[in-house]
Amino acid sequence: MELYRCEASGNAFCRILFISGKSVPDAAGLSEREQQYVTGRFEKDHRVVEVNRFEQIIWLISRDPDSQGHSLLENLRRDGCELVSQLNKQKVEEAILEDYTGESAWMEALVEGMMLGSYQFLSYLSRADEKRNSFSRLGLTPTVTLDPEELSSAFEAVKRARDLVNEPLSHLNAPQLAEKIRDWGQEAGFQTEILDKKRIESLQMGGLLAVNKGSIDPPRFVILTWEPTNAVNDKPLVLVGKGVMYDTGGLSLKPTLNSMDYMKSDMAGAAAVAASLYAVARLNWPVKVIGLIPATDNRPDGNAYAPGDVIRMHDGSTVEVLNTDAEGRMLLADALTYAKKYDPELVIDLATLTGTSQLCLGAEASALMGTAADSVMNELVESGFASHERLVRFPLWPEYDKMLESDIADRKNIGGRLAGGITAGKFLQHFTDYPWMHLDIAGTAFLSKRDAYRGPGGTGVGVRLLIHFIRSHFLKTN
Ligand code: BES
Ligand code: ZN
Ligand code: ZN
Repeated sequence: MELYRCEASGNAFCRILFISGKSVPDAAGLSEREQQYVTGRFEKDHRVVEVNRFEQIIWLISRDPDSQGHSLLENLRRDGCELVSQLNKQKVEEAILEDYTGESAWMEALVEGMMLGSYQFLSYLSRADEKRNSFSRLGLTPTVTLDPEELSSAFEAVKRARDLVNEPLSHLNAPQLAEKIRDWGQEAGFQTEILDKKRIESLQMGGLLAVNKGSIDPPRFVILTWEPTNAVNDKPLVLVGKGVMYDTGGLSLKPTLNSMDYMKSDMAGAAAVAASLYAVARLNWPVKVIGLIPATDNRPDGNAYAPGDVIRMHDGSTVEVLNTDAEGRMLLADALTYAKKYDPELVIDLATLTGTSQLCLGAEASALMGTAADSVMNELVESGFASHERLVRFPLWPEYDKMLESDIADRKNIGGRLAGGITAGKFLQHFTDYPWMHLDIAGTAFLSKRDAYRGPGGTGVGVRLLIHFIRSHFLKTN
């Protein structure tokens, strides 16, 4: 969906009026009968009301008077999504938006919901045109005070992350992902360095190489760099994304019915990292950000790594692999070790890491844990509420460490039946020596059914969260 600036015009065929109460301001130009009708509908708890004048359709949308704060914004996103679905049902292609609330945060949430709700993934439908949404252009009249470029960049980033997640392995393996990211970099202005298997071998990234052993495709380690000369930070923010292009579990093959069906989404962390760099570069933000993406698929094969194997990792330590399905931490560990060379201010990794975090939180929140200062953790949690990509904190107490002890190596790659999300985090912690935060997005990255403006399919989780966090942490001076 494209945003553009336009003049207010009472004659536009389709107008969307955003109002704050139940009664329509006179300036909107509705007749008395129309105003009475609209107020009546709002009083019956309708939030999107249509006035069809035959030669003009007016949609009115009112904010929910009973909610406030973050939930008010989330309701507005959902209303925006509902509005767009009604516009599509009526085959409307374009409309202009008029704001009668004067609240730019409300307006932003509404437009965000409209944009996110209009996403579709149609690449493999022969008759895509029959399914394509009609609504594609939204004119912002001068009453609307938001920055279209910022919203469009964020939406484009989410769209790209969703596209990557929705692409199946048959069309997106590790080398193809790396090439796609290179294209984005050329477009938006960040640099991309792609390490091939030989370079990965010479760096002795044993974790990434072990997972790749069963694959028919070579691995990639992708380094994304956005280093503007006017950066406000000396030490970079490093983002690390799990890029498991498909997770069969490997020789510890995924056991239960349907547990493999959506495992093309196991690179959603990588997608969020690449998309966030795209947004930051496109917006030309003065913040140094590095992205690190270790990428491969995980499959069984004659040469696949096996339970019982001992792997020497990029940092020189050894890992006893007791389950090849705990592969994400193997490649993330190498990327987290690699991140040390940047002397980072903060490292945030995003990974579809454990079924446990999905079991605990469902699709309503991602798990957050790490070693960064409480203030940083709180800022992330706040960004989570603001973007409605909510985060719930898990502990990394030292007591959990003993669950990873191994008799023959420095540690095991699994911690047993209990506290799986936490032991995965504990495993990663060993490869960090800087302020670090880990987001387990296993439950939020992919929805098999639609939930308002998310899904079905990849949600792009992490992108709006990171954009909000980077803006508030580095760019807001108050
Ligand atoms: N990719 C999975 C985690 C996952 C599960 C993501 C469900 C999305 C939805 C990960 O690689 C995995 O298999 N984790 C195992 C770890 C276990 C073997 C210690 C898990 O959580 O079951
Ligand atoms: Zn796995
Ligand atoms: Zn996985």
